[in-house]
Amino acid sequence: MKILVTGGAGFIGSHVADAYIAAGHEVAILDDFSTGNEANVNREAEVLRLDVRDKEGVAAAIAAFRPEVVNHHAAQSEVPKSVADPGFDATVNIVGGLNVLRTSIDAGVRKFIFISTGSLSSSTSARSTAHSGSNTRCCVTRTSTARARIFMPRKAE
Ligand SMILES: NC(=O)c1ccc[n+]([C@@H]2O[C@H](COP(=O)([O-])OP(=O)(O)OC[C@H]3O[C@@H](n4cnc5c(N)ncnc54)[C@H](O)[C@@H]3O)[C@@H](O)[C@H]2O)c1
Repeated sequence: MKILVTGGAGFIGSHVADAYIAAGHEVAILDDFSTGNEANVNREAEVLRLDVRDKEGVAAAIAAFRPEVVNHHAAQSEVPKSVADPGFDATVNIVGGLNVLRTSIDAGVRKFIFISTGSLSSSTSARSTAHSGSNTRCCVTRTSTARARIFMPRKAE
């Protein structure tokens, strides 16, 4: 199966890409390498060096690779950055994520997987704050939770 892993040069995405390749799948990774590392990238993976905010670029890459599955991990994942510049955080994590989702739908991708956040299971920011001992986690938690709520299918009302 052809699988696109966004954020495939990062911590989690690179392991996901390795596992797909070990299972015999054809993998491309889409990453801008802003925090990802070339050393993380499996040599058998095709590399698409792109920013998820570049909607046309992402659409062209997905149309050319024609994945059946997109597994979305590309993200601004650093807590201090998300607190210092929440607008940038939202542009990458929400708008960029929606670019990947929209272009995947338009390209007929069969399955879209995205990594969620543990914050959905700890529903109050007070609880998150208690875990971290500071109020920074509540800020990134809210952004991550917003993204998860946008991306996850809802039950019919
Ligand atoms: N690490 C954890 O414990 C954990 C837990 C729950 C959820 N998550 C989520 O998993 C995802 C990946 O986390 P991670 O720990 O692997 O982070 P990471 O920072 O190691 O990986 C993110 C990857 O995305 C790439 N990236 C960043 N901005 C990009 C952009 N604009 N366009 C294209 N690529 C871009 C980076 O270069 C990097 O390779 C994030 O959404 C994070 O919120 C992580």
